Amino acid sequence: MRIGVLCSRVRAEEKLLFTELERRGLTYTKIDDREQIFDLHQRSYPYDVVLERCIQHSRAMYMLKVLGDAGVPTVNTYQVAATCGDKFLTTQALIHADVPTPGCQLAFTPESALAAIEQMGYPVVLKPVVGSWGRMVSKVNDRDAAEAILEHRDVLGSYQHSIFYIQEYIAKPGRDIRTFVIGDECIAGIYRTSSHWITNTARGGLASNCPITPELAEISVRAANAVGGGIVALDLLETLDGQLLVNEVNYTMEFRNSIDTTGVNIPAKIIDYVLAVGGGR
Ligand SMILES: Nc1ncnc2c1ncn2[C@@H]1O[C@H](COP(=O)(O)OP(=O)(O)OP(=O)(O)O)[C@@H](O)[C@H]1O
Ligand SMILES: [Mg+2]
Repeated sequence: MRIGVLCSRVRAEEKLLFTELERRGLTYTKIDDREQIFDLHQRSYPYDVVLERCIQHSRAMYMLKVLGDAGVPTVNTYQVAATCGDKFLTTQALIHADVPTPGCQLAFTPESALAAIEQMGYPVVLKPVVGSWGRMVSKVNDRDAAEAILEHRDVLGSYQHSIFYIQEYIAKPGRDIRTFVIGDECIAGIYRTSSHWITNTARGGLASNCPITPELAEISVRAANAVGGGIVALDLLETLDGQLLVNEVNYTMEFRNSIDTTGVNIPAKIIDYVLAVGGGR
């Protein structure tokens, strides 16, 4: 099988995936996005399956589109990357699939954004629609803070910052839940616990095993299917009355902190899935 791996700088996750491929005696081609030149008139590529592991969302999107249009099966698909790479598109997909997700409003000017925030009531969470590792995710506790953030965005921001994505703040119990879905199976989950309201492990959140209950598996797989399926990681928030809400879905997931924590061989499960997609051609 001709396996390609789209990547950029090789991180811990990609090293683990390459090791898993080598352990199985499989050969693969690293497709480094920093070196690629795509002739858009070329309409076929010598791969049976391509696994996407880029760092930059925009590069991943373009390359998945080129390969997908040429008939190469990719993990994940362009459609999944497009949906998950944009918090607005993710929220839309979740809502229309009836997957529980926090209240959310969209506005395009600082004035209408402030009106939306005042109407929702404090605190709210403002997020860039494209972004990761919790960057520029802001909890807004009062009107002074709202005005300050909206003005900064207006004066300093780029086009993307004139899209105001405003979420209800969920008073979660000092942690969120990250689950991993591959195909139709929720394979593992971790709690990310932090004294800060942003619980990403990249921001100091501590990972511990989260048992996958039938309820957690069901909502995770439904949310994964809502964005188009494949290999995804979900952020879930628990409300004080015990309801689960899907906050977002990630399509090039990091998992280095979750293998020992959960006891699940995540890279092996990823390669199993990639081989199944490649073999099903
Ligand atoms: N509405 C909310 N209510 C309470 N906590 C939230 C809310 N939104 C986000 N958080 C906390 O902040 C963290 C980061 O937010 P989010 O996952 O939306 O953005 P991101 O981390 O930038 O995206 P990515 O996971 O792609 O890196 C979440 O994991 C969660 O702990
Ligand atoms: Mg997140």
